[in-house]
Amino acid sequence: MIPWKTLDRSPIPGGGELTLVQRGEEMAIRVNGAELMASRAHASEERMSILAAERLAHVAAPRVLIGGLGLGYTLRAALDAFPQQATIVVAELVPAVVTWMRGPLAHLSGHPLDDPRAVVEIADAAAILRASPRTFDAVLLDIDNSPTTLIRESNASLYSTAGMVSARSALAPGGVLVVWSAGPDDRFAQRMQRAGFRVEVIRARAHGERRGHAYTLFVGEIERSLPRGTAVPSPTRPRPSPRK
Ligand SMILES: C[S@@+](CC[C@H](N)C(=O)[O-])C[C@H]1O[C@@H](n2cnc3c(N)ncnc32)[C@H](O)[C@@H]1O
Repeated sequence: MIPWKTLDRSPIPGGGELTLVQRGEEMAIRVNGAELMASRAHASEERMSILAAERLAHVAAPRVLIGGLGLGYTLRAALDAFPQQATIVVAELVPAVVTWMRGPLAHLSGHPLDDPRAVVEIADAAAILRASPRTFDAVLLDIDNSPTTLIRESNASLYSTAGMVSARSALAPGGVLVVWSAGPDDRFAQRMQRAGFRVEVIRARAHGERRGHAYTLFVGEIERSLPRGTAVPSPTRPRPSPRK
């Protein structure tokens, strides 16, 4: 068995360390030693973009937000699935991930940052959502392991009801939110519903249609006909922390 080799390390804003590791052709990003994303399986990450693009086929120039970059598979699938007129903003918290994507990771997902439609913002996806009312037609969130088993604890707020309201507020009428999760989570689906989404829970295999572990994609859609000035729902009472 070929041993894993550490290619680079980087601090994570707010605490912790990200490492880029390689074993033969395989590459992975780890957070404090735990695997966050690896190149051996990426069909579920790609499916996020495909599902959103299918639902937005009627939009000529969709605006898409992806959080975060990782190994670039969701971004590559978005570049392939959305039309040439699309704008695809990628929010990535750790600057080194972007540096790696312009270097040793670039070939994995076909050099996605070379495409002029891809715009990278070094930022917390939560901050971009809060600062972007009615801006995006699609928001694709794959920043952590799941809404409840988080690798980066401060990501919990983005998966809370308030975080889902913020995601909803950042969507234009008819917008679509897709959230990646390692497993099912009924309480999270309910939080999305409380935030005003029509929710579909989809099992997405690690290796294409039928092979590999089944991950969970939460697909939330909002009404197309929301008149301008309509207030989005806010959480009615404080929710307990999802980390239990
Ligand atoms: C699981 S990886 C994303 C994998 C990606 N979907 C792919 O196809 O390769 C998670 C990424 O989100 C970034 N990240 C974590 N928390 C974030 C946040 N709050 N805002 C933006 N990016 C974040 C991590 O640094 C990492 O690059």
